[in-house]
Amino acid sequence: ERGGYDHYMLKEINEQPEALERTINGRITDDGRVDLEEFPAGAFDGVSEVHFLSCGTSHHASMYAQQLLRDRGIPAHAFTAGEYATTPAPVSEDTLVIAVTQSGETADTLASLRSANARGARTLAVTNVVGSTAAREADEALFIRAGPEIGVAATKTFSSQVATLALVIERLVADVTGTPSEDSEAVLSALQELPDLVNRVIRDSTASSLANRYAGSDGHFFIGRGVAYPVAREGALKLKEISYEHAEGFSAGELKHGPLALVTSETPVVAVFSGKHDRKTLNNVEEVRSRGAPVIGVAPESADNVAAAVDEFLAVPETHPDVAGILANVQLQLVSYYVANVLNRSIDKPRNLAKSVTVE
Ligand code: M6R
Repeated sequence: ERGGYDHYMLKEINEQPEALERTINGRITDDGRVDLEEFPAGAFDGVSEVHFLSCGTSHHASMYAQQLLRDRGIPAHAFTAGEYATTPAPVSEDTLVIAVTQSGETADTLASLRSANARGARTLAVTNVVGSTAAREADEALFIRAGPEIGVAATKTFSSQVATLALVIERLVADVTGTPSEDSEAVLSALQELPDLVNRVIRDSTASSLANRYAGSDGHFFIGRGVAYPVAREGALKLKEISYEHAEGFSAGELKHGPLALVTSETPVVAVFSGKHDRKTLNNVEEVRSRGAPVIGVAPESADNVAAAVDEFLAVPETHPDVAGILANVQLQLVSYYVANVLNRSIDKPRNLAKSVTVE
């Protein structure tokens, strides 16, 4: 049932290339345009802003999408669903509210979706489960097609969520601005290559060799900017949830505004780079190294400046920076998996956690 893998989590990490194939299958035309059956050209005409509602890993996928939309000039905000359910932001009929939920059954996300529905927003569920409550209750639904995910830790669904949202975003930007985004062609061709690139990350990763050295540290900090920021947050969430190691993810610039006080030689720092804004994140790497922290850099393989500035280098294949975060995240999934494995944790069913959280 686990296909020869010790854990569902490792199986599902390895399934990402095929999951991504399914996610994008038929959704990009030969001449490089988005082709979403559910959302033909013009489907998003009139949208003035986008709200994302989600929890945990799905929230990190939403933060990633928020960044892509803002880069393309569209107002966007990724809210944690639990907050939005009680203190929602104002919406109008031109607000597109996207509930991002693997299971489609997360109580906080459903409560926030109901609030958006009741206040007249246009709602869309982006989910893995056909027939789920979110898919039924939102005005529209789009499926990420990742296939069933058994491990409590979300892995392949994150990658498929980000890829699906990237497609929606290119469609939406073309509709709202009347022309495809400047990066549209490059991003769509990067998405088509993504299954192969993820395959290469998994095949070539040296993450398992780090696990012994870093398991049992006082704390683990993850930093990044732009799309690398949600990936840093996701890396920390994954590590804490399956290894029970203390881990926190920060936007790289925020570290010096408080968390830096915690940085010592016993707190490894994982710095995530996408190929955009890297120089500033390198400054932050210097700040933590001068406090003695070992630094693990996750970056595109050509980033010699990163490789030279860090203690350990986890490379990902070159691609468009908007897609690079998905590759970096796969490295972080593997880091978490191997650290949890060294510590002999209950990887597929971590203590206190459930796959689907059906209470608010
Ligand atoms: O099913 P959902 O995507 O709505 O679940 C949301 C979170 O509970 C979920 O992503 C959780 O954070 C993951 N299990 C973490 O790996």
